[in-house]
Amino acid sequence: MNIYIQTYGCQMNDYDTDLIRTILSENNYQFVDNTEDADIILLNTCSVRENAERKVLNHIHILKKDSNAVIGVLGCMAASLQKSLVENPKNKIDFIAGPDSYQKLPVIIDNILTKKGHNYDITPSNSETYANVYPRHQKGINANIAIMRGCNNFCSYCVVPYTRGRERSRSPENIIAEAKNLILSGFKQITLLGQNVNSYSYEHYDFSDLMEMLSDIKELKRIRFTSPHPRDFKLKLLELMSKRDNICNQIHLPIQSGNTRILHKMNRSYTQEHYLALVKNIKSILPDVVLSTDIIIGFPTETEKEFLDTVKVVNEVQFDSAFIFKYSPRPHTYASKKYPDDVTEEEKTKRIVKLNEIQRKISLEKNRACIGKVQEVIIEKTGTKKSKLECQGRNVANKIVIIDSIGNRVGDRAEVKITDATANVLKGSLI
Ligand code: SAH
Ligand code: SF4
Ligand code: F3S
Repeated sequence: MNIYIQTYGCQMNDYDTDLIRTILSENNYQFVDNTEDADIILLNTCSVRENAERKVLNHIHILKKDSNAVIGVLGCMAASLQKSLVENPKNKIDFIAGPDSYQKLPVIIDNILTKKGHNYDITPSNSETYANVYPRHQKGINANIAIMRGCNNFCSYCVVPYTRGRERSRSPENIIAEAKNLILSGFKQITLLGQNVNSYSYEHYDFSDLMEMLSDIKELKRIRFTSPHPRDFKLKLLELMSKRDNICNQIHLPIQSGNTRILHKMNRSYTQEHYLALVKNIKSILPDVVLSTDIIIGFPTETEKEFLDTVKVVNEVQFDSAFIFKYSPRPHTYASKKYPDDVTEEEKTKRIVKLNEIQRKISLEKNRACIGKVQEVIIEKTGTKKSKLECQGRNVANKIVIIDSIGNRVGDRAEVKITDATANVLKGSLI
């Protein structure tokens, strides 16, 4: 049986797709690179905003036009929409499985093919961490490792606690064993994943302990993590980052809003002042830190003046980059039940355009400030869309760097002098 799998959403879903590939490959399924050769098409889905779900449903309609393959929907949409997703004949879905059900996929698929048993498995688990599965990662330089699953924060806008269930952490031994396996397979960088990595907790180990143990592995050249919650970012972690060369000085620190009233309504449990004080602390301990963030605009009741608080914080912090989203009401969430989505689409568009423009200028300035500097770049591919004579990699800050010469191989570490910059990429020459 041939399977094609497509992944939507965040890095956690990318990681899960690798788990799914491993579980099914061990059960005699083969993976193919295109839908035409597939007997089974799996879509590992995202529910974070309404348009994420719409994209998946549209894709299934297109697939069904010229394919008789069995369609399985996995991931967050399965967990959020539950049985209604598979029971609605308009959706043309054959089975669904939630994020805690992947070990059962061989049985679920077998049931579908033999037309017996349920066409859904969406039971959440408080203990599943897939600790017994070593995912076979796709080739590349970076490999993600999920150090925990689920989320207990219940930010009022967010569906993730309902799709991924309660928070649980994997043992450090298990995570370290996965990291060592990855090094043997040629990976240079790992990115630790969790909805809130600061709340990693296993026996007496916290997140800083885990980072210290991983950073002791000398063959690991770059360690990143995403995302920490601004509420409980520990000083101990910043001090460790400043001492260890292989922990990248890069922090994705989602702010969501710069206005304290809105933050309170979002259930983020910090204020504008707390966030700014944390950033000040981070910058004093890690002077060359690269910061990025997530922002939601148009949360219910957000006024123009409150939006301008977010603008103020963006100007003050000077993030290297920001992912800015329009608020989208999600099923199950407190906000969708209690607060009408009362900022008009027109107003949301106005705010997102304005904030994106401000951020683009800051990103450009930040990138232009790199011109003339020498940076370490790990090569990720040779040849770019524009020219075979270029190669592309990333610097410590995770920014894309295009190098105007060949002679590098994927995985090489190169010293590069930055010669030009746009808001999204740096350009440079080997030295
Ligand atoms: N656990 C991660 C976030 C996962 S979701 C964290 O807290 O950092 C990724 C981003 O999607 C969030 O940071 C938020 O900015 C955005 N998001 C989540 N729910 C949303 C919603 N209902 N509408 C718009 N954006 C949303
Ligand atoms: Fe969602 Fe908040 Fe959990 Fe992040 S921390 S996944 S935004 S509930
Ligand atoms: Fe990720 Fe989307 Fe689920 S952001 S956790 S795949 S809702």
